[in-house]
Amino acid sequence: SLGLSQSPYKSIKHSTYFEVYDDLFSRYRGKQITFVEIGVLGGGSLFMWREFLGPQARIIGVDMNPNAKKWESEGFEIYIGNQSDELFWQDFKKQVGRVDVILDDGGHTFEQQIITTEMLLDIINDHGMLVVEDTHTSYMDGFGYRRFSFLEYVKRFIDKINQRYSEFDNTVADQRVWSIQTYESFVAFHINRNASNLISERTDNGGEYDSAEGYRYSDNQALKSLDVLVRKLNFLKYIPGIKWLDAKARSYFIVRKSKRRLKKYFSSDS
Ligand SMILES: C[S@@+](CC[C@H](N)C(=O)[O-])C[C@H]1O[C@@H](n2cnc3c(N)ncnc32)[C@H](O)[C@@H]1O
Repeated sequence: SLGLSQSPYKSIKHSTYFEVYDDLFSRYRGKQITFVEIGVLGGGSLFMWREFLGPQARIIGVDMNPNAKKWESEGFEIYIGNQSDELFWQDFKKQVGRVDVILDDGGHTFEQQIITTEMLLDIINDHGMLVVEDTHTSYMDGFGYRRFSFLEYVKRFIDKINQRYSEFDNTVADQRVWSIQTYESFVAFHINRNASNLISERTDNGGEYDSAEGYRYSDNQALKSLDVLVRKLNFLKYIPGIKWLDAKARSYFIVRKSKRRLKKYFSSDS
């Protein structure tokens, strides 16, 4: 798997991880990219990345333990600091400039993962990514306050990406990340500024209207019965407030049906 076996120094990676690395990082092989790994003390993974990406890649390691400096003699750039310290990252960014890929395999607490993400997204080039490893810690004790876990943060992030949609309040939308990809134990934030800053608007090709939405509620019996009733009791439309009542009833029937049908897919919440 990858170049791990060629690495002369210790690296502990889980068996499922290589498939993910392959999927995410193959596109960068042989390319002149800057790759940053956070958490490198054992050194093994640095050699693995060099083997995998090729000698032209600029490989930077970050670790809190000053002993990691020893890897500089092997041609890696090493920065010593605490990944949950904003000031450390500000300094790092001044010195390093822009990068293509960041892999966070540091301490894995929610604080470390979230602050690292918030501090580093803006230095990643388009078509680059930030990958956070060991995200299963979000479900474990000992990594921080669970309501502010990394994966809870990711769920909020997904909300903010969808907030870009034209009919929503775009002031709270996120434009930094184009897409978010999840695997077991990994989350990848993909950067593509052109795509994430496109103006979201309805486009109309002027084609013929085929009332494509007409079937949306066609399997909702309660709504159908309401339609029949409304047609029969046509005179009701003169009663004040009836439109409001009709809308309320429709929305109630839509919610009731989806709740009944989908409950089983949300069983731990119901
Ligand atoms: C899981 S190990 C990294 C393993 C390495 N990537 C490999 O595969 O061989 C975690 C590393 O994160 C470092 N670390 C822990 N907390 C950190 C922090 N707050 N800031 C920076 N590095 C940290 C540790 O010193 C350790 O070297």
